[in-house]
Amino acid sequence: MGVDKDLSNNNSSRWGTASCPHVVQVPTVVVMVGLPARGKTYISKKLTRYLNWIGIDTRAFNVGELRRAATDKYRSHDFFRTDNAEAQAIRAKCAQIALDNACEWLANGGQVAVVDATNTTRDRRRMIVDICTVKHPFKLFFIESICDDPEIVQANIIEVKICGPDYIGMDKNKAMEDFQMRISHYEAGYESLDYKHDRNLSFIQIFNQGERFLVNKLAGHLQSRVVYYLMNIHVLPRTIYITRHGESQMNLTGRIGGDSELSDRGCQYADALAKFIEKEKIPNLRVWTSQLKRTIQTAKHINAPKEHWKALNEIDAGICEGMTYEEIQEKHPEEFALRDQDKFHYRYPSGESYQDLVARLEPVIMELERQENVLVICHQAVARCLLAYFQDKNSASLPYLKVPLHTVLKLTPVAYGCNVEFISLNVEAVNTHRDKPSNVSVKRSSIDALETVPDHV
Ligand code: SIN
Repeated sequence: MGVDKDLSNNNSSRWGTASCPHVVQVPTVVVMVGLPARGKTYISKKLTRYLNWIGIDTRAFNVGELRRAATDKYRSHDFFRTDNAEAQAIRAKCAQIALDNACEWLANGGQVAVVDATNTTRDRRRMIVDICTVKHPFKLFFIESICDDPEIVQANIIEVKICGPDYIGMDKNKAMEDFQMRISHYEAGYESLDYKHDRNLSFIQIFNQGERFLVNKLAGHLQSRVVYYLMNIHVLPRTIYITRHGESQMNLTGRIGGDSELSDRGCQYADALAKFIEKEKIPNLRVWTSQLKRTIQTAKHINAPKEHWKALNEIDAGICEGMTYEEIQEKHPEEFALRDQDKFHYRYPSGESYQDLVARLEPVIMELERQENVLVICHQAVARCLLAYFQDKNSASLPYLKVPLHTVLKLTPVAYGCNVEFISLNVEAVNTHRDKPSNVSVKRSSIDALETVPDHV
């Protein structure tokens, strides 16, 4: 699996260890189960994004996409009739290919494969158990989404199905009718997971999008974490706002870290932010800041309940705290260059890496998932980590995401992801962003060549 087994948290080590080595010691196949329009793809994508963000290499394998690639243009629900032998053969083949692809990927070092398909019959699931646990030595976990509320199903069909690839150019009412018929073909042979037949399997059943859960035979840390995550997410409409603190005194002098006050322009941003939030008229807004002065001062004029999270504090720059980048370059040239080599894993001596920061922020993400409207006032590195979670950015690009000062990021959930608007509040501020240098080397010559614009993290 190529997983680093070093579980130590040695703060003086320069590089973080591979994430979560203790969580996935055996590759795991997560198998979705459920009728069409029960949110299986939503769960697959969201879970995949979360597991990747916490450092577990995860990929989703979608059978519908393979079916579309294997057939001509979708014509009608007839394709899904149980008596359509030709189509049944194509569907079985696509399911087999998805599973083979998933197993091959795991055999080559992947950690978690999510098989996104209906898998509504016991025969199909038996085949999956055989391939994953007999032919291969993998762990298996089933996630069944069960929904008997016609309003939820109807809303899902409208949101993701009738505007999806099978129905391009089709009248919306016709598409709705066709999809309902498709569901009825699946219903004819649907066998839900149950205690009588499946008590040896590890699974969770989610009823009506989280109204109720049933968990059976959890096996290991990864499965517990998956269950905990699934029990915390919700699908209520809401908005998350993320902003950095207003410009600080230390931003003005290009010094990193510390706990300085806002600059004059930072105070203007605090005013502008409060006005912006008032105009948005956000019901039941909660404001979260770090425990550092600059975020608390930025929240000062906002009329909403506030909580100050230590977990939201800026990345700890260790021995480089309070220094300018020129000073770091001069006093610790190797550190300066090493950081550019792999900014995500690089750990400041006696400080933190971005990877450490993601681990520190996991409870914040979990609580954000549970909440509705929240404004998070934080710091550059922290905002990058949060944004990477919502935008599904990988660890290489995460430390270079652009999150300018005096800008509000407005995040709104959409079908399978999240829409992000960058709203500048038009208060001038220093630019603290520094792009990844194109020519990275630890040799003295390249250290001298590195750009010296202060990047505050
Ligand atoms: C599909 O072909 O769209 C779904 C395939 C499945 O039944 O898993």
